[in-house]
Parts: sequence; C-alpha cells; structure tokens
Amino acid sequence: MPRYTADSRDRVRDAVDMLALVSEHTELRRAGASEYVGRCPFHDERTPSFGVNPVEKVYYCFGCQASGDVFRFVMETEGLDFTAALQTLADRFGIELQTEQEDPQAASRRQRRERLQALLGRAATYYARYLWEAREAEAAREYLLARGLREEMLREFRVGYAPSAWDRILTASRRAGYSDEELLAVGLVQRSQNRPGQVYDRFRERIMFPSTDARGNVIGFGARAMRENQRPKYLNTADGELYHKRRVLFGLDRARAAAARAGSVILVEGYTDVLALHQAELQNAVGIMGTALTEEQIAELERVAKVLVLCLDADSAGQEAMLRAAQLTDKRNLELRVVPLPSGDDPAELIERAGAEALRERVAASVPFVAFHVERVFEGNDTRSAEGRDRAFQQLLPALKNLRRGLFGDELLRGIAGRLELSEAQLKSLIEGAARQNGRGGGATTTASAPELPIDQAGRAERAFLALCVALPEAGARTLFEIDPEQLITSQAMRRAARHLAGRTGSPLADLPPDDEPLARTVADLVARAGRAGRVSEDQLVHARLVLERARLERAIRRARAEGASGIGELAREREAVLQKIGQVVANLERAG
Ligand code: CTP
Ligand code: MN
Repeated sequence: MPRYTADSRDRVRDAVDMLALVSEHTELRRAGASEYVGRCPFHDERTPSFGVNPVEKVYYCFGCQASGDVFRFVMETEGLDFTAALQTLADRFGIELQTEQEDPQAASRRQRRERLQALLGRAATYYARYLWEAREAEAAREYLLARGLREEMLREFRVGYAPSAWDRILTASRRAGYSDEELLAVGLVQRSQNRPGQVYDRFRERIMFPSTDARGNVIGFGARAMRENQRPKYLNTADGELYHKRRVLFGLDRARAAAARAGSVILVEGYTDVLALHQAELQNAVGIMGTALTEEQIAELERVAKVLVLCLDADSAGQEAMLRAAQLTDKRNLELRVVPLPSGDDPAELIERAGAEALRERVAASVPFVAFHVERVFEGNDTRSAEGRDRAFQQLLPALKNLRRGLFGDELLRGIAGRLELSEAQLKSLIEGAARQNGRGGGATTTASAPELPIDQAGRAERAFLALCVALPEAGARTLFEIDPEQLITSQAMRRAARHLAGRTGSPLADLPPDDEPLARTVADLVARAGRAGRVSEDQLVHARLVLERARLERAIRRARAEGASGIGELAREREAVLQKIGQVVANLERAG
C-alpha cells in the first residue's frame, strides 16, 4: 500500500466539495452562515440532527455522535480504510497523489504490480468488447440475456467472452509490450506441452467474469464454459502474484458502499448470483465463489459490515457451508443470518423463476443462523422417537454450545427443550456437560459413532431402574417385558442396555455382541451396581419404574406445551395417578424399614 505525502492529503481535502459529498447520502438544508443540517446517514432518525460545516469540512451528529472530516466520512459510508478513502476522493475531485519516497525495492514491486494489473485490465476490456461485438460471441450474449441478466449489468461487471482462437490475448498483449513471463504471471496464457517454450491463451470459448481487488483493479478471471462438454464448468485464474482465491470476494468493490450503508453483506455462491442480486437492487451482495467460505474472506468482510447474510443454495453443500461460516464467525464480532431459499434454487434461479421481489422478500425475512439450523435439524429427525430426539440433540450440540445467552438464546433453548422433552435445566446441563467433555480435548468424544451423552439426572434414575432389574432377575424380566424403552428411557446408553437385558436379566453378560464395547461397558456397570445393591425388594423396583413413568409424563406435558398441543389435561391426570402410586410404594418401603 503506497504512502501518500501530507501535502497530497491537504490538497485532496481542499478540493473536496463537502456538500456534494454528503448530499449523496442525505438531503441537506441550510441552517446558518456555515451550517447545514439533515438526517444522519449513520443512524435512523426522523428529525435532522446531523450538522455539516462545508467550510471546515467537518460533520457532527447530535443523535449518535458520529463526527469527522471528509476522509472519515468516506471511510464510514463506503467501508474503506484511510488510504482507499484518500484515493477515492483524489479520483473524484481530480487530484494527483504524490507518494512518499519509497525504497527502490518497494517501488519496483509496486511498478510490477501496476503493470500486471494494467495487463489484466486490458484483457478484461478486450473480452468485454468481444462479448458485445464478435459474431462468435452471439450464443454467449443470448445465453446471458436469456437468463434475465440485463446488458447494463453485464457491462457494469465487465463480463466478457474469450475467443476460441489460441492466441488472441497473447498477440494483443505482446503487441502492447508485455512479455510472456508477465502473461504467465497473471495466468492469461499457459505453456504448451507439445511445443516447449511456446505459450497459448488459457481462456477460450468461455464467458469471462473479471475478479477485482477492493479498488476495482482486475486481478483474475472466472471463466464459464459455453459448450456442452467443456470441462471444467468454471476455469479460474490459478493463484499467483495478484490472485489469491481464498481472499477473493466477487463484486466487493461494487458492493462495499451499499454494504456499509446497509450494515450487512449478502453472501451468494456464484458469479451470476451476484449479478442477479445487484440487478434486483440488492447491491450489497458479494460472491464467495463456490461454497467454501474462508477465514481470509471473513476477515475482509468483517471490515465492511457486521452482519453477514448467507444466501446460499439450500442443498447439502450449501448447508455445509453455512455450518462452516458459523464456526468462522463464532470467534468474531459478526452476526450471521440465513436467507431460507427453496431447496434446489440458487438466488439467480429464484429471481429468474419468481422475480426480484420474491428474492427481496426472502432476504428481508432472513433469520439468525442458529434458528435456521435448529429448524433444519428438527425437520431431519423424527422427535416422536427417543432415538430421533437423541440424534437431534447430537446435531444441535455444536451450535448450542456457542449460543449466546440473552432473550433470543433463552427463547430458543426453551423451544428446543420442549421438543426434546427435556426441562430447560436438563438441556442446559447436557450442553454444559458436553462442552466440558470437549474441552478436555481427549479424542474420546470424536469417534465415528455419536458420542454417548453425559449421564444426567434422568439418566441416573434410568440406570438405577435397570440395576434393580438385574438385581431382581425375575421381576426385572417381567418389568422389562412390560415397558417400552423408547417411551420410558431417554439416555441412549440406557435404552440400548434395556433392550439387551430384556429376556436376559438372569445372565446379562452372557451374549453381549462382541463388537459393541459401549454396550458391554454399560451392562457391566449395571451388573456391578446390582451386586453392590445387596438385598433389594420388589417394591424398590416398582418405585424406580414409577419414577421413570413420572418423568415420561412430565416430558410429554412439556412437549405438548411447547407445541401448543391439546391433551395436557389428560396427561396431567395420568401424572396425578402415578404420583399417588409413588406415595403408596414409598409408604410400603418405609414400613418395611
Ligand atoms: N465454481 C468454481 N469452479 C467450478 C464450479 C463452480 O469456481 N468448477 C464457483 C464459481 O464461482 C461459481 C460458483 O462456484 O459461480 C457456483 O457454482 P455453480 O452453482 O455451479 O455455478 P453458477 O454460478 O450457478 O453458474 P450458472 O448459474 O451459470 O450455472
Ligand atoms: Mn447457478
């Protein structure tokens, strides 16, 4: 990044027309000798509290305390750093910037970069002209327009077409004084395998999307196939001196100002999606180019806006990408939201099919990432079965561990607890337990099979019940025959143990499957507990079973409440009956001493 002289800075400040600059963002009216007021562009307000002094070229908001000079204004409204703001203003008001004396090495690096950028800029111009003028590009023009992309938008993004010939860019660039080495460095040509020393155009018969840096300099291309069997579908500039795929965000230069104004960036997958969104007047859209959002992209986005709105295909790759994005944003001060798209549609297709307004409505209805994720998980698992609830819990766990507490988080947890038939306290302790287990960093919880849940209070009651079944083999066998473990037992480990023990209370360890170590451990533990229990009575078993019945009814009641279902009265009556029976058994036990 060049360093400009203090004198350049002053000349730019002198040249800026402060009123023209600010008026692009808010309407100003005169309010004094050298004072204008308007509605603040930095916060929402109805009555103007934003003052501008066009002589001093400063602004101040009495509402939100935003204040600064011309540079600060551009930095804030367009999300630029100081140097970029200076350059933007210099461009606009026609001032030539002088750089501080660079050391010779830095100077030659900068010159090299500028030369390569100019080379790519020329190529982009060439491809764009070719798209609109060449006969050969007619099919491409028709294809793009038929997809609903307007010519002005295609021109704005400098979309082009690469000729089928092998040497157009090569010849034109050589003629303009560029060396083969430079052409190779920017990825416009590649070496011939058959004829050593020869190079030829890398992009041929493809629609060309130029990628730019933050200031709009072309740094590479994404080239979309036009013919049926042309592979790959997208041929991208390889990483090199200027182009680093992990850093590129397609369209960021054009989205930056809108994103800073809106406070949010919309992330889409593809080139055509970006164009389609801009055309639909969602100018804060950028392309992540495929689904894998990177740390580098997030770091760049963080400087532009604090809210990231994911607008990705709802297919599994898109889902995967959202989870990844959630992990990446988690450590940062960024809010992640999701636009629910109909499955199988990318945003460009949705606009094509249903119109711009349809997409705008969906974007406006974006939801916090966690809420979206929770919905997806519950859609994918049948929570009527205990196993489905377990799976749902396992899948929710990573997102829940990072859930920030607060009104929204608490509300979400309440809903989840109800659907998992847990109390809020139980859910919270399960989440905390799992977080602690992970924190220990042992590999134990990352085995291929789902990790066992940490045992909670409900799990302990279930364990006590099963240990009694083992301690009283005959009554235990009868009881296990009568109950439905799906309904009565919530812990996955205990449920599996219950199924194993049915019919085997007399010899629990006899035919354990040889390859199921977790089950073996659980059963062995139950046998050991039964042994330690000593003499136990059948009433104890009855009591343990009733405790589980009570818990089951309480879960059912919570669930019905969460879902607003009817039948709560009936469940409450059943629970009453169970409570009475518990009272009787407890009385019996006390009498027996
Ligand atoms: N992509 C890529 N290389 C590929 C395939 C895809 O770099 N071989 C990137 C491109 O940036 C592309 C994005 O992933 O824009 C999304 O891919 P895809 O959905 O296949 O393409 P679309 O952008 O939807 O292209 P189109 O709508 O023209 O089919
Ligand atoms: Mn697509």
